[in-house]
Amino acid sequence: MKGLAGKTALITGASSGIGQAIAIRLAQEGCNVAINYRKSVEEAEKTEEMAMQKACGQVEDCGVKSLLVQGDVSQEQDILEMMNAVVDKFGSFDILINNAGIQTEYPSHEIPTEEFDRVLSTNLRGAFLCARETIKHFLSQNRSGSIINVSSVHEVIPRPSYLTYSISKGGMGNLTKTLALEYADRGIRVNAIAPGATITPINEAWTNDPEQQAIVSSHIPMNRPGTAEEMAAAVAFLASDEAAYMTGQTLFIDGGLTLYADFREAWSA
Ligand code: NAI
Repeated sequence: MKGLAGKTALITGASSGIGQAIAIRLAQEGCNVAINYRKSVEEAEKTEEMAMQKACGQVEDCGVKSLLVQGDVSQEQDILEMMNAVVDKFGSFDILINNAGIQTEYPSHEIPTEEFDRVLSTNLRGAFLCARETIKHFLSQNRSGSIINVSSVHEVIPRPSYLTYSISKGGMGNLTKTLALEYADRGIRVNAIAPGATITPINEAWTNDPEQQAIVSSHIPMNRPGTAEEMAAAVAFLASDEAAYMTGQTLFIDGGLTLYADFREAWSA
């Protein structure tokens, strides 16, 4: 895609699922990739191997570079160190993908305070801190750049028993729009994707069970879950110059999930 080759992208939570697919796709498009992981260096190494394989095939050194960078996005110090590591290695970077995210299930009236803080500090505060440091970097080097937040259909659809997740993604929608408006005149674009039900480890509860998966699919107008690669394609588009005039938008990649599937048929004559 136009304008991606030679750029450098930092992807948080890139050792599995959608983040992994994004790292692989951006490397395939010729971006250097900084692969953030929280715990499993083995998983991150696998991401790196697949990304470099897509980028270079059998070629030993095709110019695309990668970096593994450990860090917990709920920890400010980790984020500062992660940003320094990326700049040390590549000199600068052009694209931030705020992908790291978690979800936990509780009836809302039973959510422990520390659990509320844990989800919000990963999904929303972490995305804000990464965006803040990235924007400082862009401004200090007087360079344009792109930030893409991995939100969710729950940016707009309330999700009972997943209140913390819904709040975090709702907040991410406004984070996207507010930053987009504030920095548009300085060449910084901020957009988001909102995946629907996607086959990744976060959804192990139903992806490994055909009956459960059929139930999930029955609620989706296109009658199937999405793949991490389909999410990564939308991210590559938003990061590329093909989307040069887009900012402040959330692209819903959801097989029609946000089209009010209950209205497929008339409720009454
Ligand atoms: P996943 O569980 O495979 O990926 C989440 C990644 O975030 C993991 O690699 C995990 O290690 C990382 N992570 C979690 N906490 C972290 C922290 N504190 N610091 C750094 N990394 C951390 O699941 P998936 O589906 O790939 O999730 C990626 C993003 O996509 C999340 O933000 C999620 O909310 C979003 N999403 C996923 C959907 C789905 O159906 N799979 C639907 C809508 C949104």
